[in-house]
Amino acid sequence: MTKRRHATFGFGNRSTPLHIPWEDGAMSSEQLDPVLISVAAYSADPIAYERHYKGHLLDRPTRFASLLPPESRILDLGCGPGRDLRLFADAGHSAIGVELNPSFVAMATRHGQVIEADIRNIRDLFAPQTFDGIWAQASLVHLSRTETKQLLKDAESLLRPHGRFYACVSAVGETGWVNESDGRRWYTVWPEDDFEVAVSAVGFEIEDVNRGPYIEVWARKGGR
Ligand SMILES: C[S@@+](CC[C@H](N)C(=O)[O-])C[C@H]1O[C@@H](n2cnc3c(N)ncnc32)[C@H](O)[C@@H]1O
Repeated sequence: MTKRRHATFGFGNRSTPLHIPWEDGAMSSEQLDPVLISVAAYSADPIAYERHYKGHLLDRPTRFASLLPPESRILDLGCGPGRDLRLFADAGHSAIGVELNPSFVAMATRHGQVIEADIRNIRDLFAPQTFDGIWAQASLVHLSRTETKQLLKDAESLLRPHGRFYACVSAVGETGWVNESDGRRWYTVWPEDDFEVAVSAVGFEIEDVNRGPYIEVWARKGGR
């Protein structure tokens, strides 16, 4: 039987250093998957990203923090430069980020504990029922539908009973590549209620939905 190694929450463990293929030119861009190419684009100007999004939709993580019991354990998926890690810690919680972009990992470490890893592998990083809250602010946008559905399953299993989940994904436009000023990124679009349906399908109870260019889903795990 294969034994999984889990990161211990709350201690300074990091996962085995990842081989980031775009760093050493070992792979051509055609061989890389869309998620890796998209994640790499954030390295063009990570400081500008941090500045631009400093105050963006701050009410969302503030609300998430307030919904959780004191001293909750929160997993921040794709934590970027770490703004929300800091916000969760300031609200009295223990947060850990998972982030694949090395520039963001370096920046986010100033705000809390971060594991440099792919959010598609969270089931290998943490034991079941480790977290009270899982937060995915705009970080599933580059994953395919199949990858997101698997991640939703994994997130559900990592939450404790009654744990809370938040995610937002793109809701308008078409799935595919977008050439942005700082690089090329893949976006998967979830029209109508497709994302809500996917979140409920893994067993979450949907508590609230915000619709706009992004669809934001607030959900809760059941429990006895
Ligand atoms: C739009 S940014 C959002 C960052 C942050 N959550 C925020 O709200 O500012 C998407 C983030 O998700 C990260 N990300 C995307 N796919 C990832 C993956 N498969 N594994 C780890 N991080 C990922 C990106 O590197 C980037 O930091």
